[in-house]
Amino acid sequence: MNVLKKSILAITVATSLVAATAVVAQPASSEKHAVYATELRQSIFKLLGSNMGPLGAMAKGKVPVDAKTVEKHATRINQLSLMIADYTRTDTSKFDVKTEALGKIWQDPEHFSKDIDKLTLASANLMTAAKSNDESAIKKAIGGVGKTCGGCHDHFKKD
Ligand code: HEC
Repeated sequence: MNVLKKSILAITVATSLVAATAVVAQPASSEKHAVYATELRQSIFKLLGSNMGPLGAMAKGKVPVDAKTVEKHATRINQLSLMIADYTRTDTSKFDVKTEALGKIWQDPEHFSKDIDKLTLASANLMTAAKSNDESAIKKAIGGVGKTCGGCHDHFKKD
């Protein structure tokens, strides 16, 4: 493979990992719809939380860093990040649902989309760090992912 082909391939792979996100809000059509959409939205974030747990423990030194485990969770977080836009599209703010999501998600979808992209990038970066098997790079990259979780929560999630 020549150099140009190789670099085009690399760019294609990189783009698929950081596919630009665009949340286009759609109002829930009924209370039932809003409840279901809220369950799906929270499911994505629960899965993100369950994959972040072991990484946080490694970053804090509570358990030893294991590059293979890091790669697994980072890959899942990356894939989940690509689903956030679809599962947060439905605007449930007009209905009385049990949620910590702020209405700002659907009023400022551009900002929300940017916060999604930050997680996609940070998790791709962690996948790379895991492959390098460099413990300090891995810990730093876990911190980078955590920052993007917290950053979005600061803007779009109730305390
Ligand atoms: C783009 C914004 C955004 C990003 C990025 C984000 N979150 Fe969240 N998260 C939210 C919102 C909004 C909610 C509230 C959802 C609801 O209650 O409907 C939430 C809820 C949660 C919950 C509670 C889920 C529940 O209902 O039980 C957990 C756990 C969570 N996030 C973990 C994470 C972790 C870990 C990351 C990073 C790996 C992350 N989130 C990244 C916006 C984000």
